[in-house]
Amino acid sequence: MSRKILVLDTTLRDGEQVPGAKLNLYEKLELAHQLKALNVDIIEAGFPASSQGDFNAVKEIVASIGKDRTITALARAVKNDIDAVYQSIKYAKNPLIHIVLGTSSVHVEKKFNRSKDEVLEMGVSAVKYAKTLLPDVQYSTEDASRSDFEYLWKTIEAVVKAGATMINIPDTVGYAVPEEFGELVKKINYRLKNMNDKVILSVHCHNDTGLATANTLIAIKNGADKIECTINGLGERAGNAALEEVVMGLKLRAEYYNAYTNIVTKEICKASRLVSNLTGLDIQVNKAITGDNAFAHSSGIHQDGLLKSRDVYEVISPEDVGVENMEIILTARSGHHAFKSAAEKIGCKFKDDESFEYLFNKFLELADVKKEVYDHDIYYLIEKYSNEKALANNAGNQFEGIDLYELISFQVVSNDIFPTATVKMKKGKEIIINSSVGDGPIDALYSAIKNIVGLDIDLKEYKINSMSRGKEALGRVSIRIGYNNQKIYSARAMDTDVIKASALAFINGINSIILEN
Ligand code: KIV
Ligand code: ZN
Repeated sequence: MSRKILVLDTTLRDGEQVPGAKLNLYEKLELAHQLKALNVDIIEAGFPASSQGDFNAVKEIVASIGKDRTITALARAVKNDIDAVYQSIKYAKNPLIHIVLGTSSVHVEKKFNRSKDEVLEMGVSAVKYAKTLLPDVQYSTEDASRSDFEYLWKTIEAVVKAGATMINIPDTVGYAVPEEFGELVKKINYRLKNMNDKVILSVHCHNDTGLATANTLIAIKNGADKIECTINGLGERAGNAALEEVVMGLKLRAEYYNAYTNIVTKEICKASRLVSNLTGLDIQVNKAITGDNAFAHSSGIHQDGLLKSRDVYEVISPEDVGVENMEIILTARSGHHAFKSAAEKIGCKFKDDESFEYLFNKFLELADVKKEVYDHDIYYLIEKYSNEKALANNAGNQFEGIDLYELISFQVVSNDIFPTATVKMKKGKEIIINSSVGDGPIDALYSAIKNIVGLDIDLKEYKINSMSRGKEALGRVSIRIGYNNQKIYSARAMDTDVIKASALAFINGINSIILEN
């Protein structure tokens, strides 16, 4: 009988650990809703002990979607972390405490500087304590793939006896190779199921040598009941196993694996674009399943074959992952109905008539400038609108009394001797103007903005992309800025005027710094 594989998505925890991929509360909630639409079984919402912001975000996610979804959050094997997880997830319908502790010699000796028995005891005590709070506890044997097998098994046996209901085998540093990892999972599964067949066996693979998807799939073949992954493979270093790859790989070869997931695959493309848009991290064009070229056929021989029958060169149909073939191009003459159906086709829902009218007018303004409006434009228009609303709510509720910067106007002169910029900005009731020169127009622009805000910030990365086709395409500027030589913040903005988008992205980043600090 085909086995159901549980899918845990950790984009909001492992994914969000990526420098610069930090999301604000509203972005996290938006992503959590999309994960729900994808129908992932478990959402790892964060690492609550890491900061008050993370704690609050996990709580909000639970309040928003925790009634019909299992929510977990990460804790080290210490009381404070476990308490923070419990306090943040306790109102979910199925809360799950996730404890992580290393089992490899490098972790035991170098990270903890303790004996193996002492570390094992820490893990057992942590599980026992977590069990006094909630019935479901997952234990992750960090760096399992580099651990001595007998010590790894001794740990698993002890934590299961202490009450762990899920055992997660992480390939923390992407060291595993498929054949060996499959054997490891098979051996653990055999012993585990003999010991207690109710305990769920899970894997969590990193992609340091590009094997995360392969290792996850081989683990399923060898008995894993649950997989952990992220959208677009986001995560520490080279990232985690990409949800879209594992899920579609399994779906394509369901008979070979004799397993399936309950993921709503038509939501994959939307989830992937959303994560890319929220984090500012682009998707590689040839990325499996969700890259722009994943379903593009360029060679004449391939095109000829496809025209005869799609299955000649296509094993996955684009519609299955939510990639629409037919794009309707809108213009300023497109009416309410055309705009609504184009927006709904790419998965946007309107909260009420007022939001719809507001967006329709924004669409008309854009169509006047751009002439042709594509799916991408509508998507970003809606994203931009939601972000503006979120920021207003942010300022209005959580951060009452904090004034944020707004751009009023700017002028940039580009030449090869003295590029200059003058910027007029507003903060609360104060209007501030500054002019500056720079090595180029963006440098001059950013220098004037920096003079106005007076914060110790420096630009680490600047990227500009065209978001759609046509001469008047929307430009999206993504930046990363360092604050006080410590933290990195990322921000984005878009506009048909790329200089304005550059200024807005920088100001968005500055406002994030202000809100967080
Ligand atoms: O990579 C890892 O080991 C982890 C654990 C917390 C599961 O992220
Ligand atoms: Zn990880």
